[in-house]
Amino acid sequence: MTNSDSALFRPLQVRSLELKNRLVMSPMTRSHSTGGVPGQDVADYYRRRAEGGTGLIVTEGVTIDHPMSVDNDNVPTMYGEAALAGWRKVVDDVHAAGGKIVPQLWHVGPLWGAMKRVDPALKPMRPSGRWGTPGVTSYPDKLVARQLPDTEPMTEQDIQDVIAAFARSAKAAKEVGFDGIALHGGHGYLLDSFMWADTNRRDDAWGGTIEKRAAFPAAVVRAIREAIGDELPIIYRFSQHKQQDFTAKIAETPEDLGILLNALVDAGVDVLDASIRRFDLPAFEGSDLSLAGWAKELTGAVSMAVGSFGLGKSLRDSRAEGGSPVVDNRDELERRLGSDEFDLIAVGRLHLADPALAETLRLGGDLPAFDRAAHEGSLT
Ligand SMILES: Cc1cc2nc3c(=O)[nH]c(=O)nc-3n(C[C@H](O)[C@H](O)[C@H](O)COP(=O)(O)O)c2cc1C
Repeated sequence: MTNSDSALFRPLQVRSLELKNRLVMSPMTRSHSTGGVPGQDVADYYRRRAEGGTGLIVTEGVTIDHPMSVDNDNVPTMYGEAALAGWRKVVDDVHAAGGKIVPQLWHVGPLWGAMKRVDPALKPMRPSGRWGTPGVTSYPDKLVARQLPDTEPMTEQDIQDVIAAFARSAKAAKEVGFDGIALHGGHGYLLDSFMWADTNRRDDAWGGTIEKRAAFPAAVVRAIREAIGDELPIIYRFSQHKQQDFTAKIAETPEDLGILLNALVDAGVDVLDASIRRFDLPAFEGSDLSLAGWAKELTGAVSMAVGSFGLGKSLRDSRAEGGSPVVDNRDELERRLGSDEFDLIAVGRLHLADPALAETLRLGGDLPAFDRAAHEGSLT
């Protein structure tokens, strides 16, 4: 594979963001930012991927300026002078290495308390007070039992506060110099919990119909667009699966998925990041089209696939069963990118295994092996 004949190495422009290739570093929580401040080790970690040729880096999930956003003090924040100075250095170093970088803004919502045991007197942000019906989950039974009791549903004031917090942190990210904004709208966290009928039982403006279940995520996007203006792209990660239940869905049919995703695009989303465990998995019966393929088909927006590139086991299966063999699925990726089924591919674990993954792929080298103990533990 060389630069000239690979669909992966075609450039792409989204608003002001110019990408030299279609390879994206998928967001990965690292928890190395003590007190929420990303240090030089974090800057070096991202710079290595920029030097390695990755087209776009999406950072780890970042805490927004809201007290119930993320229950882990080692996750970096997008507020506060020290954290913003840390981010400025990250962005400058990535840019100096020829890379592009966007932060993934994150509010854990119903899953508050899953990372760190927290004060039970605090009220997690849940649309209807529900954690979600537990199904196929990787969470230990004890944690589920602790998290499961209903809490007070979010009030109108809570909703407005979170929307404003997203907009404040997005504006801060723009001022720091990021190339766009990414939102974590998947995996059972706050934005997703409004879309999921199981956790959103509201019957006001924020729930009750599929259109209304999209209203809160769309309001967040609209507020961010207003705060950052027209220049920077907004990337939105959505998923069918939830950490509460990997078999759960926000949409049973393409038609329902179209209603949800078009609400986001109408509000100002440019790139739909379809989070799934394998990039080539059919999303609905009767078609070979992947979730990212459907996102593009239904909305016309730029779309991004993710999941198990170069690996035989999904993230969840490899954690449950241990290990993941190298599987060379480059041809399948080239076929789908080349036919414009989707536009971008996000890669998580192989970016931990090989900071120069883009260069490895460009030169047609061997795919790296992923070793969880070696690659997840440190910021190499
Ligand atoms: C260590 C680790 C941390 C992750 N943290 C996040 C995160 O903060 N936000 C997110 O949206 N996804 C997160 N993910 C999921 C990845 O972005 C990606 O979707 C998943 O690993 C599948 O891609 P892969 O098979 O290429 O690894 C994480 C994955 C890993 C391995």
